[in-house]
Amino acid sequence: MGEQTRLRTHSSDSLARGVVTGYPVAPYGVWLSTVLKCPTCGAESSPLSTVFRCVSCSEPLDVAQQLPPVSRALFDGRLGSLDAPWNSGVWRFKEMVYPGLPEDGIVSRPEGNTPLYRSASVREYTGVADVALKHEGLNPTGSFKDRGMTVAASQAVQAGARAVVCASTGNTSASVAAYAAIRGLPAIILVPEGATALGKLGQALAYGATTVLVRGNFDDAMSLVQEAAGELGLYLLNSLNPFRVEGQKSIMFELLQQYRWDPPDWIVFPAGNLGNTSAFGKALVQARDAGLIDRVPRLLAVQATGASPFAAAYRAGFAGMEPMRPETVATAIRIGDPVSYHRAIKSIEATDGVVIDVDDDAILDAKAVVDAAGIGAEPASCATVAGLRQAVARGLVAPTARVTGILTGHLLKDPGTTIAYHEGRYGGGRTNPPVTIDPDLLSLSGVVDRASGASR
Ligand code: F0G
Repeated sequence: MGEQTRLRTHSSDSLARGVVTGYPVAPYGVWLSTVLKCPTCGAESSPLSTVFRCVSCSEPLDVAQQLPPVSRALFDGRLGSLDAPWNSGVWRFKEMVYPGLPEDGIVSRPEGNTPLYRSASVREYTGVADVALKHEGLNPTGSFKDRGMTVAASQAVQAGARAVVCASTGNTSASVAAYAAIRGLPAIILVPEGATALGKLGQALAYGATTVLVRGNFDDAMSLVQEAAGELGLYLLNSLNPFRVEGQKSIMFELLQQYRWDPPDWIVFPAGNLGNTSAFGKALVQARDAGLIDRVPRLLAVQATGASPFAAAYRAGFAGMEPMRPETVATAIRIGDPVSYHRAIKSIEATDGVVIDVDDDAILDAKAVVDAAGIGAEPASCATVAGLRQAVARGLVAPTARVTGILTGHLLKDPGTTIAYHEGRYGGGRTNPPVTIDPDLLSLSGVVDRASGASR
């Protein structure tokens, strides 16, 4: 690669045209173009733009980029690397995520590299013999959001953002706050008052974000930040930002690599604002087109019944989506008007996917099983396991299928719901309430007798 090519980053004339930004990329010696593109009318804009909806059709824009040739060997060769950026489970797949980003522009913790858990009790509960749970709660801030955030936060720096903003049910805000802190960017986060899990709220405060409690639900906060981003010149880090979607694709790439590129039959995950749904389908199609896999697994998106406009739309053949007033114990997915509706449809269609919903009792019951397996996850994550159990019972997923469930957030994100469940406040049948005793051996030995009797 010539020196001239290496030194040129985004040229001012291409930026002025507002259309294309090319970056030199190390091993390829070619210019790779990255644009924001409207999936409906095809209009293109600069990747450094801070506007994420098409100005004419108002559809969320996608990142369209020229992906260089890749191979399984390229990605396998980076496994176990101690060096940035390859030690990140997002940037190991840089060619599939954001090849045009200069390596020194990466803002990373690093993230990803999350495990696949197998458990006899989860197998028995779901009825699927070959089921693994990929625990995205083991990311730096305890949820999958960090995968999208490393990319969008890097892009915020490229775009010269002076401050970043998001609306959130909690996990996005924790991630935004942490990644903004890496670069000392002011972060403003908006969460619904009274409906944000304690762990998430604590993280946003602790990481130093300006935390705004909105009297309204997530959808209200989401409309407000979209208005605010434009009016107040803030860089939006919700999954409406298409660079978030590019980062979240890495959940699929990493999972496929963990399966040694022999894909499972189904991938099951919770769906709220539909960022993951959009990212997963895009990733799987790109992985197939790149020759990394030879077939595309089916997606099973699971919503909470009280916040299930996407599941309802699926049942109606995607004729349209009716927003709803969301209510569910799984506050992470308490969303009634998801922004990525159209791109999520594409993912479901491209993967012969299915969308279902599960009620709160089923979510909490599945959570008690996942938690007691020593895995643990927040309520929304356990919609995955509840959904798989329902899908098997309905004959949608065969007990002999190979299935990966995605657990999206850590158990400690929502201690309030976990404790309330075990104190019996939800009426669930798998409670493990604490026992209070006087400080003497006799009292404790009674407890020990009961505990060991219970385990025999
Ligand atoms: N699971 C968890 C733990 C989440 O936090 C979210 C979304 C989802 C699933 C749904 O993912 O939106 O891509 O369909 N949380 C967002 C937030 C909305 O603000 O933290 P999605």
